[in-house]
Amino acid sequence: MHIFYGKAPLTAYLKSIKTTNSSIGFVPTMGALHQGHLALMKKSLLENDFTVVSIFVNPTQFNNPEDLAKYPRTLDADVEKMTALNPEIILYAPTVDDIYEGETVSKSFDFDGLENQMEGKFRPGHFNGVGTIVKRLFEIVEPTNAYFGEKDFQQLQIVKKMVSKTNLKVNVIGCPIFREANNLAMSSRNERLSTEEREKAAIIFQTLTVAKEKFKTKSAKWVTEWVQKSFENNPLFDLEYFVIADEATLLPCSTKNKNKKYRAFIAIFVNNIRLIDTISLN
Ligand code: PAF
Repeated sequence: MHIFYGKAPLTAYLKSIKTTNSSIGFVPTMGALHQGHLALMKKSLLENDFTVVSIFVNPTQFNNPEDLAKYPRTLDADVEKMTALNPEIILYAPTVDDIYEGETVSKSFDFDGLENQMEGKFRPGHFNGVGTIVKRLFEIVEPTNAYFGEKDFQQLQIVKKMVSKTNLKVNVIGCPIFREANNLAMSSRNERLSTEEREKAAIIFQTLTVAKEKFKTKSAKWVTEWVQKSFENNPLFDLEYFVIADEATLLPCSTKNKNKKYRAFIAIFVNNIRLIDTISLN
């Protein structure tokens, strides 16, 4: 594995690759790698001459200091997983200072309102942090293609918007959600769940699947209320939001329009651990 902890040696190495006109695939992560991350890397390895992966727990996208402190950091295990997948992967695992150069603050972005819904509403400042780090990483790596999981669908739309509003020349590619055997969406946060919580969290995707079925005949309001009620008396789960939104604008669906694509989004706490999931509805 080629491992770089600083942007100067990384960019020098990438410069030698770029002179050969090769394509570079990029998979940004915060580490604690799971099968979902590895699937993004496999796709990048298939579609590009070189693959760069970043592992960086970005402080500016955490609105909750406890969540940042408890975020799993497992660099050695991550390196083992990547080496087993393909020892040619180029890893960039920078320090906070290498990225932020002494000023750990986010820039302010206008994502045409995409940032004001769901995650943006409940995690103030989160998407400014995401925009800051993804833009910085794109500037350092200058990838041809960048791969993002659809679990963070709002993040994916926001990154696409950022690229379309700046001069960054990168194709942003969304990849399907990877799920555990019980259909719980894979997430580094799942590691913090107990075995029982992890099993019971299957209810999240089950609920989304039933919601999708109900949305065929019922309104968004009806389905939303049904989901809220179904979690009301469940002591293990604390529903933060369930929203049915237009996939392009992320605005909540009030009246169904058959020309639009809709998606359901959920954020839910299991014993203070925040999980999100999403499903396409049509
Ligand atoms: O999805 C993530 O893991 C992070 O938000 C990202 C894109 C790596 C930026 O820190």
